[in-house]
Amino acid sequence: MTNRWTLELESTSYTVALEPQRRWLELVAWGPRGVEHGPSPLANRGSVHFITDADAAPVEYAPRGLRPFSAADLGVAGESWWRFAADESTDTQLRLAFVDELTGLRAVQCYRAEPGTDVLCRWVELTNTGTAAISIDRLGSAGVCVPTGERGARLTYLTGQWSQEFTRRSTVLEAGSFRMESRFGVPGHQYVPWLTVQDAAETDGPAYGVSLAWSGSWELDAEIEPSGLTRVRAGRLANPGPVVLEPGASLTTPELALASSVDGLGGLAGVWHAYSRKLAGPRLRNRRPVLYNSWEATGFEVLGSRQLDLARQAADLGVELFVVDDGWFVGRDDDTGGLGDWTPEQSSFEGGFGAFVESVRALGLDFGLWVEPEAISPKSKLYAEHPDWVYRIDGRPATLIRNQLLLDLGKTEVFEYVRGFLDELLTAYPISYLKWDMNRPPTERGRPGEPTADLDAEHVANYHRLLDHLRDTYPGLIVESCAGGGGRTDLATVSRSDVVWPSDNTAALDRLRIQDGFLLMHAPHLMSSWVTDAPGVFDPRPRSLRFRFVLAMAGVLGIGADLSRWSAEQRKEAAELIARYKSLRITIHTGRCRVLSGPTEPTAATQYTLGEQTVVLAWSTGELVGTPLVPGRSSRIRLHGLDAAATYRDEDGQEYSGAHLTHVGLPVEWTAERDADVFVLTRV
Ligand code: DGJ
Repeated sequence: MTNRWTLELESTSYTVALEPQRRWLELVAWGPRGVEHGPSPLANRGSVHFITDADAAPVEYAPRGLRPFSAADLGVAGESWWRFAADESTDTQLRLAFVDELTGLRAVQCYRAEPGTDVLCRWVELTNTGTAAISIDRLGSAGVCVPTGERGARLTYLTGQWSQEFTRRSTVLEAGSFRMESRFGVPGHQYVPWLTVQDAAETDGPAYGVSLAWSGSWELDAEIEPSGLTRVRAGRLANPGPVVLEPGASLTTPELALASSVDGLGGLAGVWHAYSRKLAGPRLRNRRPVLYNSWEATGFEVLGSRQLDLARQAADLGVELFVVDDGWFVGRDDDTGGLGDWTPEQSSFEGGFGAFVESVRALGLDFGLWVEPEAISPKSKLYAEHPDWVYRIDGRPATLIRNQLLLDLGKTEVFEYVRGFLDELLTAYPISYLKWDMNRPPTERGRPGEPTADLDAEHVANYHRLLDHLRDTYPGLIVESCAGGGGRTDLATVSRSDVVWPSDNTAALDRLRIQDGFLLMHAPHLMSSWVTDAPGVFDPRPRSLRFRFVLAMAGVLGIGADLSRWSAEQRKEAAELIARYKSLRITIHTGRCRVLSGPTEPTAATQYTLGEQTVVLAWSTGELVGTPLVPGRSSRIRLHGLDAAATYRDEDGQEYSGAHLTHVGLPVEWTAERDADVFVLTRV
């Protein structure tokens, strides 16, 4: 019987082996294919003092009993030990079972290589084969070892808060640990369940990343282990915990996706992008329409006549979809009411809501609608009828956040209510786009009478079921996921949505930074982005209309500005840029994307390549180079992944060799008026 397994990925491989006493699996090698041939870079070569062998080993997944001092992946009350029991692998999965004879806990450690990518998915299936309940306080999906050296690890992570999501940060960890978590019931604005580890001795050496496919609370730690390697542990956060596994019961942890690239952070982003495209499947080819969303223009004051004016102006610019955001339903005059009562406020729409939708469609626009299915306003009819449908603890007052409460979506009757109203809306009106929002984390997280219910897991499972239902029942419907901006952009959500809303902050320079972080984790076809008015609500640093357009074109273009305030000249420019975007969107959404330089550089630029076409979007972040008033040279953007010997022609007929574009760069001349540009090169 074999003791060692290699998973072959697109260009990398991942090799694990059983330790001699078969108590745990160890990582042998992870990197470009073939790295497994040679002595393992992870194996502990020294002797072990004061700790156990497991504490010093590159363990793949271990319970706390087995690995007491160096952090374990599974925390079981009363502790747990196990031993390898069986290889239950299938054609597509490596599945290795470990059993704890004493408690009856059976853990199948599972691996699946995602075909055509360098992404490996890992998860664990736990079953209680014993006679007593097992209480779990730590529920990791996987432990991930990275062979960092004496200088420790450089960790790159995404952090922020509402309106500042996806801020990229790096820190060097020489010893000790680093931790991120969310108790928000969604992944949250503060941290993203995504991390990159590199050896701190190199500036941008090989990169190893993890991304958790879980739409609820989560935890992720990275720790320098006694033997010097870096080990990452990630999984859902038992919230409220612990999770109780009754005799005979099973549970499956969320998947943790692992990716690696020898080409640093940029190369790793490319691996994640390829995975995003894989998750989108055939839906990647679906057109993601240019949308107009009226939220910033009208707020809660949604009146049919004003909406139609905006729709007409949007249609004139070449917009393809009109989305009515919050405020269209009964009782929703402001954020204190309405949530839960998903009936259009007919009196706001002359001739009724149906007639309004038809008028929008008569302009040649598709129609989209905002909903917040998990939310409920205390003033709503729904709350009056079902006060027991919210999370609550008997005897404790309910905390309001944004004046609203959260439905206990894990309850069957709540799930059915939400599915019912979504079906009603989607069958009553020709809605082709649904923005699913979520604006408050759970508080008073309880369900009277069921003290051990796994509330986070039940909520997330039904949220996923609803998204799956929408996909299955309305295959043409585009779903945008949003949680007060970018609060829920995990892999489980994006695999069930078509686009996500990274942040409510659309102010030019802030957004450039947010998008820079977003594109480390997800591909451009997922990145909804709007052109809004300037200066906007957030960042007061003004940028041209062109800058804001080119920025929104970097993903899925939308407009959120008050169009009635735009001049004829602005409309003309907008119409030209929308047409330009439409002609390039296939390359932007389905091509290979590489962020060439980020928001901290004088010129930020992103490259998209599909077949013979290369599109470069570039932005001047404000630093002046002096030309043409004083001697100076053009700013240059060095492109990536071109054929050095090939010739590339721009739209003015200027030709460049691939070598020139790669090593010298594409010249750009910034002026006060021209602070962003779109370049299209064709390989000849
Ligand atoms: C929060 C979202 O992020 C916004 O885009 C908008 O939809 C508001 N909610 C509406 O309440």
